[in-house]
Amino acid sequence: MNVLGIESSCDETSVAVICNNELKANLISSQDFHKKYGGVVPELSSRAHLQIVTPLIRDALDKASLSKEEIDLVTATAGPGLIGALLVGLTFGKGLAYSLNKSFIAVNHIEGHIYSGFLMEEKPEFPYLALVVSGGHTLLLLVKSHTEIRKLGSTVDDAAGEAFDKVAKMLGFGYPGGPKIQKASENGENSEINFPVADLKDPFNFSFSGLKTSVLRFIQKNFNDGLIPEIDKNKIAYSFQKAVAKALIRNSEKALKTFEVKSISLVGGVAANGFIRNSLIELANHFNKKIIIPKIEFCGDNAAMIAYRGQKLFENGIFHGWDYAPFPSMPENQYN
Ligand code: KG4
Ligand code: ZN
Repeated sequence: MNVLGIESSCDETSVAVICNNELKANLISSQDFHKKYGGVVPELSSRAHLQIVTPLIRDALDKASLSKEEIDLVTATAGPGLIGALLVGLTFGKGLAYSLNKSFIAVNHIEGHIYSGFLMEEKPEFPYLALVVSGGHTLLLLVKSHTEIRKLGSTVDDAAGEAFDKVAKMLGFGYPGGPKIQKASENGENSEINFPVADLKDPFNFSFSGLKTSVLRFIQKNFNDGLIPEIDKNKIAYSFQKAVAKALIRNSEKALKTFEVKSISLVGGVAANGFIRNSLIELANHFNKKIIIPKIEFCGDNAAMIAYRGQKLFENGIFHGWDYAPFPSMPENQYN
């Protein structure tokens, strides 16, 4: 079975090809030009997706040595994400499937991230705990099977990645902030700043807004001229990152104590963070659970995870068709 996947939910256009369960291509084109605006500009993102999607599909098929007629299933991200950006990949995918008279599956972006764990050689075993940590979401999920995913908790305000981006902005690092905070934190290890981790009534929910504000207050109090020496930026970055990791680990630990699972998987853009990866590996080892964290290529937005998820849905009897109209009906609310 040959599957073509398209991802265009935010600032990455990506096309992947899976042939007989083997990933043959996963091309990712990142829209770096958003940096100068300090964040993603939705309309510019849609236009850039539109320009790149056709050549990227051609390149991905070439890389996989596949003609478009040989595709059996087309999958595309249908949400959540930027509406205009999503429309490009989704409409293209549906149109391509229609023109080729092939099957089409719309994929939920969050489910795509969850499935990035399955792109690794060692795969998650059901039931398992999935920690989805991205720029738009922070979720703790109990994945029971390919079609049963139960939400245990989510953020009540900012997503963890969003907090990384906002704190990076406060430190003058620019967008996207996550990788820059990680880099700076390497020189701020063992910093003594104690940023608070919110303790919520619901044991599996997260909150990062208070943490973000406490970083802001710390900067305002200690550097009221707005000039933060590099050494202090590094310390703030380290302490902030440590607080995010603490929140993620604390809730995961509670979930591991509550639910009988076989493995645990960390996915999403923030899963690229070395400190957070190591913290979760330590936790999993302590509980003697198998841990699956995708390689960096599969942490951020990519079409390989969309193609894989689409194929699993297809194999489980789900079929959307070319007239699938997701807005506003994509079943994404269960993750919000
Ligand atoms: O999953 P993703 O690529 O897009 C969304 O679906 O949101 O995640 C993007 C987020 C951004 O907030 C970015 O700052 C964060 O992932 N990120 C990181 C790292 N690399 C990317 N956060 C912390 N450490 C990193 N190394
Ligand atoms: Zn994402």
